[in-house]
This record gives sequence, C-alpha cells and structure tokens, in this order.
Amino acid sequence: MKYAIVTGASKGLGEAIAKRLINEKIAVVSVSRTENDRLKKWALEKGVDYKHLSCNLSLEKEVQEVFMEIAHLIFQNDPNELLIFNNAGVIEPIHTVGNLDQTPIMRNIQINLIAPIYITNLFLGKAQQTDTKVQVINITSGAAVRPIEGWSIYCSSKAGLNMFTQTAAQEQKELNTHHKIIAFSPGIMDTDMQAQIRSSSEDAFKELEKFKEFKEKNMLRKTDVVADALVNLVLCGDVESGKIYNVNDLLN
Ligand SMILES: NC(=O)c1ccc[n+]([C@@H]2O[C@H](COP(=O)([O-])OP(=O)(O)OC[C@H]3O[C@@H](n4cnc5c(N)ncnc54)[C@H](OP(=O)(O)O)[C@@H]3O)[C@@H](O)[C@H]2O)c1
Repeated sequence: MKYAIVTGASKGLGEAIAKRLINEKIAVVSVSRTENDRLKKWALEKGVDYKHLSCNLSLEKEVQEVFMEIAHLIFQNDPNELLIFNNAGVIEPIHTVGNLDQTPIMRNIQINLIAPIYITNLFLGKAQQTDTKVQVINITSGAAVRPIEGWSIYCSSKAGLNMFTQTAAQEQKELNTHHKIIAFSPGIMDTDMQAQIRSSSEDAFKELEKFKEFKEKNMLRKTDVVADALVNLVLCGDVESGKIYNVNDLLN
C-alpha cells in the first residue's frame, strides 16, 4: 500500500496535491490547522483512505505529538512506499530587516524549515526498521536562490530547506538506502499566499507592483496544473534525489 502525508492540504497547492493523490488511489494523511471538507468528501467518493490531523506546525510539542501519531498510524499498515510532501508554508513577516515583527520571524522558520526537518528525520529514522521506501518532497521557492527585499525571512527559510534537502539526499546515497529527497519550486500560483503578498505595503515590499501585475495579467498558475506536474514527476519513479526541481522545466 502507498501512503502520502501532505502538510498544508487545507487549501492552495497542498489541496491540489492531495486531490491528485486521491485520484491515484494513494491513501492520504492531511496535516494543517483547519480541516478541508472538500478533500474528505472527495476521498469518500473515490473510496480512498483519507485522514486529517490538526496541527499547528509552528508549535514544537504539537509537531512532535501529531507526527508520532501519524508514524504509528502509517507504519502499522506496513506500506511499501511513503510520500511526504512538506508543503505548508508562510510568507510573513514581510518587511525590511530592522522593521520586522519579532514573533512571525520564529513562526516562519518553524513552519517553513524546522517542521520539514523534524518530519523528514522522524520518518527516515522509523523507516530504518521497515521495508518502506520513503520519498520526501520539500516545497521550496525561487526566493531560496534570489534575495528579494522585504522577504529576508522567507528567502532564508527556503534557502535552508534547499540545503537540508541536498545534504540529507547525499547522506542517503552514501548509506545506500532507496529513500529519495527532492525540493520542488512551484513558481507563482494563484493562492492565498499571493493575495497576502499583494496586501503588503510598498515600503515593506519593493516589488509589490510587479506582484499585483502577475495577478492582473493572469500570470499566476492554477494549483492543479502545478500539482499534476509534481505528482507526475514523483510517480514516474525516476526522480533524482537531491535535485531542486523547478515547475517551469517540467511544464515546458
Ligand atoms: N503561491 C505561490 O505563488 C508560491 C510560490 C512559490 C512557493 N510557494 C510555496 O508553496 C507552498 C504552498 O503555498 P500556497 O501558495 O498553497 O499557500 P497557501 O494557499 O497560503 O496555503 C498554505 C497552507 O499552509 C498551511 N499552514 C500555514 N500555517 C500553518 C501552521 N502554522 N500550521 C499548519 N499548517 C499551516 C495552511 O493551512 P492552515 O491555515 O489550515 O493551517 C495552508 O494549507 C508553500 O510552501 C509556499 O512557500 C508558493
């Protein structure tokens, strides 16, 4: 049996990934603060195993407790493959350094970087005593490799995620395991995160007008197009562990 964990499946890209996985008859465990009734209904219609666990990924204790429970739930079914989509992410705080709110700094790093590290470490560890093949897909951003004024925390957390992906993949290769870890840059998509970006101010975010234009000129991709490209890649069985994939290379 194949299982997938999708963080941030309540909306946006995570919802589209989870929906496509359900269409592929893969059992899905969804993790976010709010439950997605559309996915629950969809899975029921398709007769696919689906479970939602509520978790605030910025809270260390909650992450530990919820993911231990998920590990127990999944490994008791002895799956042959487990796909982990570390997709949940936040953009805030948006401002120049020196003007950042302090609390969202910590929250951003917890959700975008520490939670994916914790989850990957937990499941690669647990998989050692099983025959389960683990594939980790860390959702990154072009902001990981381009400094964007006003987004220092987001850029830094995604850059950290890229380096974590590459390092962990190298270790797994060295250990001769069959586990794979990749990062995937989804490009600009029409989600709440983009709406949040557009609602920031020009003094906090220099490129505001450009991002407003992306929406006005219909340049934001639909999440199902991006999710299809990603899931096709992951299911083709030929991903290159350690690689930072970009949706633009998959869709052209
Ligand atoms: N949209 C873009 O243009 C774009 C571009 C490049 C990269 N990305 C990346 O793509 C991924 C998905 O982004 P999106 O645009 O789909 O974002 P989105 O629509 O804002 O959705 C974010 C998801 O993350 C979850 N989340 C946020 N805070 C959380 C918390 N504290 N605990 C648990 N879950 C939390 C949300 O669930 P709850 O609120 O229910 O908890 C939601 O499901 C992110 O990693 C983002 O950085 C997006």
